[in-house]
This record gives sequence, C-alpha cells and structure tokens, in this order.
Amino acid sequence: MFDESISRWGTHSAKWDLLAAHLGEDALSLSVADMEFATCPAVSRAISDACAAGIFGYTEVFDDFRQAARGWQERRHGWRPETSDVHFFPRIVQCVSALCSIVLPEALGRPPRVVTLDPAYGPILEVVERAGCELRRVPLTLSGDTPSIPEASFAAAMRDADLLLWCSPHNPTGRVWTPEELDLVASLALTYDVLVLSDDIHADFQRPGRGRYIPLATRSPQLWDSGRLIQCASPGKTFNTAGLEASAIIVRGQLGAQLEEAKRLMGLHNPNFFAIPATIAAWSKGDEWVDRLCQRIDANLDVAAARLRARLPRARVIDPDGTFLVWVDARPYLGSSALLDQAVARARVAVSPGEDFGKEYGGFFRINVALPERDLERALDRLCQAILALSTH
Ligand SMILES: Cc1ncc(COP(=O)(O)O)c(C=O)c1O
Repeated sequence: MFDESISRWGTHSAKWDLLAAHLGEDALSLSVADMEFATCPAVSRAISDACAAGIFGYTEVFDDFRQAARGWQERRHGWRPETSDVHFFPRIVQCVSALCSIVLPEALGRPPRVVTLDPAYGPILEVVERAGCELRRVPLTLSGDTPSIPEASFAAAMRDADLLLWCSPHNPTGRVWTPEELDLVASLALTYDVLVLSDDIHADFQRPGRGRYIPLATRSPQLWDSGRLIQCASPGKTFNTAGLEASAIIVRGQLGAQLEEAKRLMGLHNPNFFAIPATIAAWSKGDEWVDRLCQRIDANLDVAAARLRARLPRARVIDPDGTFLVWVDARPYLGSSALLDQAVARARVAVSPGEDFGKEYGGFFRINVALPERDLERALDRLCQAILALSTH
C-alpha cells in the first residue's frame, strides 16, 4: 500500500496538468497539497456505489453527515461536539469567504480586520484580500529549528482585530501547536473579543512520538462555549478527496445560522453528489487506513528531512510534527525566485515556491512528501542536484 506510482496526467489535475506539464513527460511533482495515493477502499466503494444507478441529482445534508463528522472528531481527536453544531460547506476557503465578505461586514458595518500568521496558505488570504478586509500578517520567527510565534507583535495585531485565521497544524511549516501556544491564542481571543477560525484541515497527520494535535475547542472550553470559535474539519487532505469538496464547519450557536444564511447567498447549498457518501465512508470506516497512511507519511518525512539536510546543509529544513509538508529556507542557495524556477526546470520537479505563502518568502520552498518513497527519493535527488549546480555557478 502507498507504493504504486499512479499517473494523473490528463485528469484535469491542477498539480499535474496545470502546474507540472511545462516540465515535460518525466516530471515529478512535490507541489499542491494533494496526495499521489489512491484513497481508502471504503471511500472508493462508496463513490462507485453512488455511481451505479447513473442518476446524479440534487442532494441535501442530513444527520448522518453530522454524526460522521462528530464520530471522527471523537475517535481521532477526543472532541465530542453536538451534531447540531456541525455545518456542511463544500470548501473551507468558501467558509472564510462567507465570513469575510458577508457575515462579518454585515455585523460590523465595515470590512473586518483579520489577523494571520505569516507564511500562510495563499488562497485563503486571497479571499480575505478580495473581500476588502484589512489583513494583518504576523511573521513567525523562523530563526531556530522550530518556527515560533512572536508574542508581542501577535498580541498587538489581535488588539481591536475582528477575526483570527488560525491554522492548526500550520501550513506551510507543519508546526503542531503546543498546549501553551493554544492557551495564548485563546487568551488573546477572549481578552480582545476576536472571533477565531481554526483551519484544522491537516489535523489527522499525526507523527508517532511527536507533539499531538489538540483541537483549540478542547483546550479552551471557554472560547468554544462563547460561540466565538469556528473549528474547520475536512476529509480532503486525509483521504485525498479535495476534488469532491466537503468540509465540516463546527461552531456553537448563532454564528452557525449566520453561516448557513451566507452559504445560501453564495448559492452553495446542495453538495456535490459524491461529497456526502464519500465523507461518511471516510469518517466512519477510514480509521485503520489513516493509521497506515500516517506511518507512510512519517517515514517519507524522515527521508525528506534527512536528504535535504545532507544535500543542502546550508538550508534550514523544518522537520514537521504534523502535515505532509516540509518548509525549506534555501536562501543560501537561491538568491532569487528566478533561480528556484531554473532549478525546478532543470530538475523537472515541481515544488511550491515560498512566494505562494507571502511575498517575503523568496528563496523558500515547500515540498509535499505524500507520494511513493522511491518517487520522493528521485525527486529530491534531482531537485537538490539542480539547486547545487545553479548555486555554484
Ligand atoms: C491550510 C489549508 N486550508 C485550506 C485548504 C483548502 O481547503 P478547501 O479545499 O476545503 O478550501 C488547504 C489546501 O491546501 C490548506 O492547506
């Protein structure tokens, strides 16, 4: 399992057909955060069963979806939200859009002030900026082995803010936040009455013996009970079902109803036909498969960190506690983003450039290790060789 190389050329794949095609037929891709692994058999079965009759009409969300979401949270993360607090959104990005362009501007009478740690997942920030919000980016301190939160500037940004976009575990650095860091977030949010959206899409990638992901809602029942915390869960990364578009937005009270209203305004009711059966199968039958997947990802992360550190000793390679991503500060080798482009073209290996996560991150890149180990090794060898060849010119 997780050893087979599966070609995705010609599948309308963003990662391959859009972003790697220019690199040629033998390109490898470590870019977009979906996986090169076939999903859990129970999920594929649910989709083919749903396909069998050949009728793909309008759908609705029922309690079985909400129960599956709760069951997964309870078994995997020790959190038991009420099913009535679970809301369906196709994508987490759309939930952020609903908040920033509809719910908060209506409540405040002005565009919201939004805080995020930097670097951050680009498409969510794009939505925030397009909604006309004031975006306050707080750069993580990247000097040690582990990126850390600069407490003073974080606190300053939170004062009089309306929304914190929190990402847990953190993309792109793979940080799994400690209980103390979660306490800091909860305390600032409560002190300054800031709404928190915790984007926990990477929550299920637990590495053995590493810091454990904790839902902010369980760490701070006070914040959860206040109705000022939105927890976002998704099978998209964990089960490689991002293209099916399903997420569970979990929030107490009035805000849930407001998000449902905004969803209708955005025309987002009636999920994709396959989204609900696939998600229910994933969250009720996928535990064992995910346990095995986490072992494969853990081994691949070890390979990636060791190889990058050995081949590019002057780079700073973050060995993550969570996610399937590795964030690399390769500035000693890549003085400009043009050099990264050249290295990618020479290696025929796509990566996510640092600038996708903030314009100051030229010379950084992020790789995705969710692919068969031998393909990962080939890709890393080609990439490191190309970077070294260019940097010694
Ligand atoms: C942190 C983070 N949030 C959200 C998403 C996208 O989620 P969705 O497709 O549900 O909008 C991604 C995808 O890479 C991500 O890394």
